[in-house]
Amino acid sequence: MEPADKDLSEKHGEFVPIIAAIERAEASVGVGESALRVQAADLHESLAHGLIPHAIGEGRTVFPVLRRITGSDQASTAMNRDHKELARLTDELDRLRSSIAEARLDATTERSLTRVLHELRELMARHFAEEEQVCFQVLKAELSPEEARQMCETMERAAAEVRSLYE
Ligand SMILES: [Fe+2]
Ligand SMILES: [Fe+2]
Repeated sequence: MEPADKDLSEKHGEFVPIIAAIERAEASVGVGESALRVQAADLHESLAHGLIPHAIGEGRTVFPVLRRITGSDQASTAMNRDHKELARLTDELDRLRSSIAEARLDATTERSLTRVLHELRELMARHFAEEEQVCFQVLKAELSPEEARQMCETMERAAAEVRSLYE
């Protein structure tokens, strides 16, 4: 049976291509307007349908276990703050995506896109690293393999439930 931290970290592995896609979109700002339109739309879809349901799933299932084990809400509060910021940036990308779908890019929109893409990429990388180091290590040490497997399954079900609301 896979250890708990491997299961949880593997989930993050699925989202690593989003970080590479953000980098490609950042490279298109100012050089390829039609490519950027497609990249921004694809990116928003991956975030809204993939990453955000994963974050909500974690909040509903993994963080309560983490609070119970540690007897503290410190780590889950910090992680939930990141999740809220990820959701806010995803919404901001959505607004920018629809504005560039209808009109030509101006310098202000380009600057906003550059900032949002940069913030998203930095936040995703930092958040994954912290979640893996802080939360998953504790869960791995404290849960039995069976408890860990059940928690991962519950998290996946919660994420799938959220995803089904969008699709
Ligand atoms: Fe996560
Ligand atoms: Fe998370």
